[in-house]
Amino acid sequence: MIRVAILIVSDSASEGTRADECGDIIAQMLGEIESEIIGREIVPDERDEIESALIRFTDETDLIVTTGGTGVSPRDVTPEATRAVIEKELPGFGEAMRAKGLEKTPHAILSRATAGTRGGTLIVNLPGSPKAVRECLEVVLPAIPHCIEIAKGQGGECARQD
Ligand code: MTE
Repeated sequence: MIRVAILIVSDSASEGTRADECGDIIAQMLGEIESEIIGREIVPDERDEIESALIRFTDETDLIVTTGGTGVSPRDVTPEATRAVIEKELPGFGEAMRAKGLEKTPHAILSRATAGTRGGTLIVNLPGSPKAVRECLEVVLPAIPHCIEIAKGQGGECARQD
């Protein structure tokens, strides 16, 4: 069972001026893999708050999915906070999300989302709109269980799945 935390990074959701829709979408989509949501938190677009939430969740989870703050607005710092706490970056997650996303919208290129491992915990960034969350999580979801196994040193054979 993959223990999951969802971190919503949004000034407006943290102030309560906009309701978050992305957390529920992520939780619902993660139902496709054997997972259990054990934490959900909303933080503003503040690098230190994002970093401390990621570090705190790492101790009790196998997977942290963030949403929001991946773009180029002055307040967007989620990839920077993620890079500060991960030990191994997995650039393929962001590359795949952008490549597949470009088939749907030219704006996919505007997300700087990344991923990486901190110990045996995988951290994955997603953009902040419900549509982007659906499109991006769908792309990376199939690789997540095996990634976590390997990060924990439990990786068996990398069996081909095609
Ligand atoms: N990727 C996909 N697949 N679909 C989308 O609609 N939206 C883009 C991009 N990635 C989008 C997407 C837009 S409009 C922005 S501004 C960036 O993600 C960054 O979003 P964020 O700052 O909310 O993280």
